[in-house]
Amino acid sequence: MEFKVGNATLQLIKSDITDIEADAIVNAANSTLLGGGGVDGAVHTKGGPKILQECKRIRDNEWPDGLPTGNAVITSGGNLKAKYVIHTVGPIWRGGVHEEAKLLRRAYWNSLKLAAAKGLKSVAFPSISTGAYGYPTEEASRVAVAAVKDYLRAEDRIERVTFVLFSQRDFDIYAQTAKEQLMPT
Ligand code: APR
Repeated sequence: MEFKVGNATLQLIKSDITDIEADAIVNAANSTLLGGGGVDGAVHTKGGPKILQECKRIRDNEWPDGLPTGNAVITSGGNLKAKYVIHTVGPIWRGGVHEEAKLLRRAYWNSLKLAAAKGLKSVAFPSISTGAYGYPTEEASRVAVAAVKDYLRAEDRIERVTFVLFSQRDFDIYAQTAKEQLMPT
């Protein structure tokens, strides 16, 4: 499913994000940047040790106390098809009254900003925070689509953003949200 947003294309697909060939895929990391389960586990398992080595260097040099929620850092893609991995930390859902929407929007925005600064043209996102971090998918999809839409309308260096959903249920939720917020081409 595709939508035109500014000069860019916003795409939704159902897949494993570690199979995606974008310039960068976004990892749903945690503040330690030292790996975990879900997307994080898949990225490090398929990407290989190079990614973790670079994450450790980033921790030592830039974020000794851990990457704050909403921030993003970039490493090579290791053995992945993607050239780069952008690691961002989404908010843990705690009922929606602890600035979760603002932090989730920031995670998408900072990931796109980092990709643009690196001169990347295509970025693929998983559904950040809706797994282990418990963010309700419907609400998260509204924040995610709005953040990407606003960014692509404000800035034109990125040409394609893909939401990579891991289940049909998540795909259907994001598709409904995208139809509500965007006009399909
Ligand atoms: N490709 C695409 N999407 C995936 C994949 C994959 N290989 N694996 C899981 N997902 C989906 C999940 O189904 C969920 O919809 O990504 C979404 C985010 O789930 P998580 O990976 O659990 O990420 P998050 O909710 O942000 O929690 C992050 O979990 O894995 C740990 O180290 C990570 O502590 C961090 C926390």
